[in-house]
Amino acid sequence: MSDTNYNSFHDTCMDYQPLEEVMAIYQRNSALTEDELFEMDETEFRARMRERSHHTLEIQLYANQYRGKKLSDKQADIAKKFLRVWDRRGLSHDLPEYKYVTFLVDSAEKLSKGEPVDLSPYKPHEVTEQMEEDFFTILYERRSVREFKDQDVPDEIINKILDAGLWAAHGCNIQSIRYLVVREKNEPGLFKGSDVPGGPVHLVICQDMRAYKANDFTPNRNRLLDAGAAGENIVLAAHAAGLEGVWLTFPNDEFCDRLRKKFDLPDYIRLVTYVDVGYGDQTPHPPLRLSVDEAVLGRL
Ligand SMILES: Cc1cc2nc3c(=O)[nH]c(=O)nc-3n(C[C@H](O)[C@H](O)[C@H](O)COP(=O)(O)O)c2cc1C
Repeated sequence: MSDTNYNSFHDTCMDYQPLEEVMAIYQRNSALTEDELFEMDETEFRARMRERSHHTLEIQLYANQYRGKKLSDKQADIAKKFLRVWDRRGLSHDLPEYKYVTFLVDSAEKLSKGEPVDLSPYKPHEVTEQMEEDFFTILYERRSVREFKDQDVPDEIINKILDAGLWAAHGCNIQSIRYLVVREKNEPGLFKGSDVPGGPVHLVICQDMRAYKANDFTPNRNRLLDAGAAGENIVLAAHAAGLEGVWLTFPNDEFCDRLRKKFDLPDYIRLVTYVDVGYGDQTPHPPLRLSVDEAVLGRL
């Protein structure tokens, strides 16, 4: 494509909202009263709690702890407001937001008093040479496999793979990812219309758009990237767990509507993409990649 042609192509998913607009939403979100937080939809409330505690506490806590600096005693105020509303709403203390935000607030309280905060329990294992080698073997040997054995995949493996998708990096910790799981044998033909025969288990990567609606100042570009990050974790985890799979594209709206209808999905659930998995029955030649030298456009 020539430069002239390219300039007429405008990809809105890369657009930024004006900074003033972003800041206005950001301030408004921070200033929501406890009554407003109490009354709003629970999914939006939880998504706001994840985002607010990330931007107004987690980042500052870690930065100050790293530099041995005290934290303002007001730094945890927004997170504490969410915790109060959490209890007022009667939500479970076993849910991840509650556990994580409680940890952040407890640590912030120590740091604001100038007490040391020990974050070493969360230090990852040291990566040994063997672990590194194993990781890169999984990464390079994962292939898009499109033919599968007639062998059932246990639910535990499916759940392990889906969990790997949830642990992908995710913009502003909003956590929009949701799934549909369809075993072909239970609903033969529901996925017809794909360009490949398909695997025995279809894993649909969805997003609950209420999570973004609640945080509508976050960059548009992050939304589909969030789903892409989950997809990559899923295909890698499938290979690591002894399965194979292929990442697939919904060919048209009718395909998605069929699934929507089957699961009676509301409009705020977006069906982004899907991955078919099963026990693989082919070992394709890797579609070879550009070299790093060719891919790097500049280095300073
Ligand atoms: C976003 C995305 C969409 C894809 N859609 C399809 C698809 O619709 N049909 C298909 O057969 N493969 C699909 N693939 C798989 C690619 O064709 C495959 O990853 C690529 O050819 C490289 O091969 P490899 O995965 O074995 O390394 C998709 C992959 C990605 C990341």
